[in-house]
Order: sequence, then C-alpha cells, then structure tokens
Amino acid sequence: MNPILFVLFALFSFTSALPTLIAYKRDVYVPPITSPTQDTIWTIGTQVNVTWDTSNPPAQITNGLGKIVLVTDGLLDYENPIAANFSILDGFHTITVPDVAPKNDYAIVLFGDSGNRSQNFTIQAAPVAAPTST
Ligand SMILES: *[C@@H]1O[C@H](CO)[C@@H](O)[C@H](O)[C@H]1NC(C)=O
Ligand SMILES: *[C@@H]1O[C@H](CO)[C@@H](O)[C@H](O)[C@H]1NC(C)=O
Ligand SMILES: *[C@@H]1O[C@H](CO)[C@@H](O)[C@H](O)[C@H]1NC(C)=O
Ligand SMILES: *[C@@H]1O[C@H](CO)[C@@H](O)[C@H](O)[C@H]1NC(C)=O
Repeated sequence: MNPILFVLFALFSFTSALPTLIAYKRDVYVPPITSPTQDTIWTIGTQVNVTWDTSNPPAQITNGLGKIVLVTDGLLDYENPIAANFSILDGFHTITVPDVAPKNDYAIVLFGDSGNRSQNFTIQAAPVAAPTST
C-alpha cells in the first residue's frame, strides 16, 4: 500500500462526503456503465452490447474478470449471470438479450472487483411471436 495514495484517497473520500466510497480500495475497479441507459430498449433474442468506460483503470486490478447480472424488480440474479469470464478492460461485451418478461425497469450490474449498476432500461418482446410450447 502506498501511504501517499492512501492519504489522497482518504482525503477525496472525506471531502466527497460519501462514506460508502471509503469501502472502495485503490485497486477496486468499478467502471461506469455507458450502455444500457434509460433510453435503451433491448429486444429479446437479439445481440446487444453492454459498454462501460475503461478510461481510468487502476494499475493493478484485483479481479480482472467481469460478470453481467440482470436486475429484475430491483433483485440481482447473481447465480445466473447474462455473461461472465470476460475481461473487465474490454469496455464492451456482446450479449444475447434473455427471454424475460417485457418491462421498462430492468437494470444490469457489471461486476469486476465490485459492481456498478446501470440506469433502468427496457426489454421488449421480439416482434414475431415465438411458438408457444406446451
Ligand atoms: C458507477 O457508474 C456511475 C455512472 O454510471 C459513476 O458515476 C460512478 O462513479 C460509478 N461508481 C463507481 C464506484 O465507480
Ligand atoms: C459491439 O461492439 C463491437 C465493438 O465496437 C462492434 O464490433 C459490434 O458490432 C457491436 N455489436 C453490437 C450488437 O452492437
Ligand atoms: C428502477 O427500477 C427499480 C425496480 O423496479 C425501481 O425500484 C427504481 O425505482 C427504478 N429507478 C428509477 C430511477 O426509475
Ligand atoms: C467462468 O469461469 C469459471 C471458472 O473457470 C467457471 O466455473 C464458470 O462456469 C464460468 N462461467 C461462465 C458463465 O462461463
């Protein structure tokens, strides 16, 4: 641990008046999600990109493997990630939109060392109805 960095970090945390930031160590990397946003509409079964800002990574990353988890009704389905095992430095990951109930209040959480949550966005049904199974 570099003591000077730590002091700077503590100072930043203190002045930002956000105590939760203190929980993030220097090498905990939580890049901001740039897509989806509140204007995003995903269509079930199509391929879409989840993107995030990799412009400011730390020199050392504790967990370089990313995971994308869907948030439904505010609940994280952590056991069934939409994607996992990609590099958190990629900046994007292409996923297939899962077959879930169409709603306008989905979100995703991108996990590296810790998680950052996207804005709420919409998942809509595919235009052509899928055959119903019995
Ligand atoms: C999470 O992402 C938001 C923007 O979506 C960003 O403002 C925030 O700094 C990020 N959180 C962390 C801990 O990096
Ligand atoms: C995802 O992003 C990559 C890199 O920019 C691009 O090549 C690809 O076409 C994108 N895929 C979709 C589905 O937008
Ligand atoms: C996002 O969706 C969640 C889950 O339905 C909801 O609790 C939350 O209020 C929504 N946030 C915004 C900003 O609409
Ligand atoms: C990711 O890698 C771990 C360890 O190799 C493996 O157990 C897990 O099933 C993988 N997950 C996915 C979604 O590929």
